[in-house]
Amino acid sequence: MSDIFAFNGSDNAGYAQPDPIPVEFSIPSGLERKTPPKWPRASEPELVRHYTWLSTRSHGIDSGFYPLGSCTMKHNPRVNERIVQMPGMNDIHPLAPEHHLQGLMAIFYEMQEMLSHCAGMDAITLQPVAGAHGEFTAIRCIQEFHRDLGESHRNKVIVPDSAHGTNPASAAMCGYEIIEIPSLENGRLDLDALRAVVGDDTAAMMITNPSTLGIFEPEIAEASEIVHAAGGQMYYDGANFNAILGKTNPGLMGFDAVHYNLHKTFSQPHGGGGPGSGPIGVKEHLADYLPAPMVECVEDEDGDVWYEWFDPPKSIGKVQQWLGNSGAVVRAWAFYRRYGKDLEKMSEHAVLNANYLRYRLLNPSNDVRAGIHAMPIDGAPTDIVKHEFTLNMTPLKEATGVTGKDVAKRLLDFGYMAPTLYFPMIVPECLMFEPTETESKEAIDQFADDFLTILSEDPKLVMSAPHDTPVKRVDEVWAARNLILRHPIDE
Ligand SMILES: Cc1ncc(COP(=O)(O)O)c(C=O)c1O
Repeated sequence: MSDIFAFNGSDNAGYAQPDPIPVEFSIPSGLERKTPPKWPRASEPELVRHYTWLSTRSHGIDSGFYPLGSCTMKHNPRVNERIVQMPGMNDIHPLAPEHHLQGLMAIFYEMQEMLSHCAGMDAITLQPVAGAHGEFTAIRCIQEFHRDLGESHRNKVIVPDSAHGTNPASAAMCGYEIIEIPSLENGRLDLDALRAVVGDDTAAMMITNPSTLGIFEPEIAEASEIVHAAGGQMYYDGANFNAILGKTNPGLMGFDAVHYNLHKTFSQPHGGGGPGSGPIGVKEHLADYLPAPMVECVEDEDGDVWYEWFDPPKSIGKVQQWLGNSGAVVRAWAFYRRYGKDLEKMSEHAVLNANYLRYRLLNPSNDVRAGIHAMPIDGAPTDIVKHEFTLNMTPLKEATGVTGKDVAKRLLDFGYMAPTLYFPMIVPECLMFEPTETESKEAIDQFADDFLTILSEDPKLVMSAPHDTPVKRVDEVWAARNLILRHPIDE
């Protein structure tokens, strides 16, 4: 079956549920529709086939390798799904009283404790439902903190030019002016550029470490000192936690607030805009501003443990209805509990896999016609990156006309999700890869072989890819300018 809307099954089209019991209701006459809706007619099996067919037309982490840099698309262990579907996890009412929610609240409490431990923070809220949402929430807390100190004049947030776009966007949504500082040529943070812009109008600096180029900023502690000396706060974008968990933490680097992308680091399935969870952690001096509710653990006279909701005294209010995305929290908790103290192994494998793939692609013995450049470290295949890395495809483009985008499109024909494209913007013709720890050496070798094959293919073939996907090359500019977001079913 192709298009369900073009499909019009017959009345006796196989098994269908009996008609529902009619319910009496009336619609005010002015609001009644003049013509019946043009719903497609399909029986239950036809509809099931339609959705099953649809599900085979897109690529997901369960159908193949998904090296999308900055997105940490890793395997979601199925035990997480078993746990989140247990009674008491998925069938609760958000307004249920505390004594009905003790199991879930225990998980929330443990998650708060584990997240604060792994980031070196003092207090956690699980409320925000995306990384960007966490950024906004934390920056709002920082804003209230400055206000309480009588420093509302601090109206600038500093971001490096390698920052993810959500960082400046979140700060701008809180009303801040964004000051972008250029990176050094090797992609690292430029401390002199930072010194030149900090001042008594600095509210915060937002940065991720390792950076979006996959390199660890060795001078991050000094950057924190510079910002703190000017009275600003340090915000850690935790989207790249996969590289450092168990090895170091933002608390040690001097950060005051962080967000976690549970849907990246802790294996919550994500994509297509959700579902996510972006808890934030803060140091003591920001804890009173966190959004409510949070969970605390109390002990009665008999030593029995009990969990209660509490509202921090100067809370910025709620940023999400009910308990946040509790299903994502439970999955992430299950994932974290299974690693326990071995969490650092996750990061070690993620970093090992990224470095191995980078080495395979850049190894000079690859007889690739035009070559590719590593960024930002000057190309030595043995340089160490963290959990992701970027390639500059300019040499290939100059030699053959084949762009990074063409290569990314051709990878779809080989059954892969394309790497992240043209981000970060400071790398020309950028492709960004993040294999994650859940891929095997065999999978990475196969991907590297296929990638290198593409580089030596006929440029015309690559430039017109993809050839084997349900949707061929699209005109992206046209599509972006002429959005069609719904099927013309009712026209
Ligand atoms: C470095 C970085 N920061 C922040 C975000 C925002 O996270 P989310 O997509 O959950 O809003 C992303 C997402 O890709 C990211 O890669």
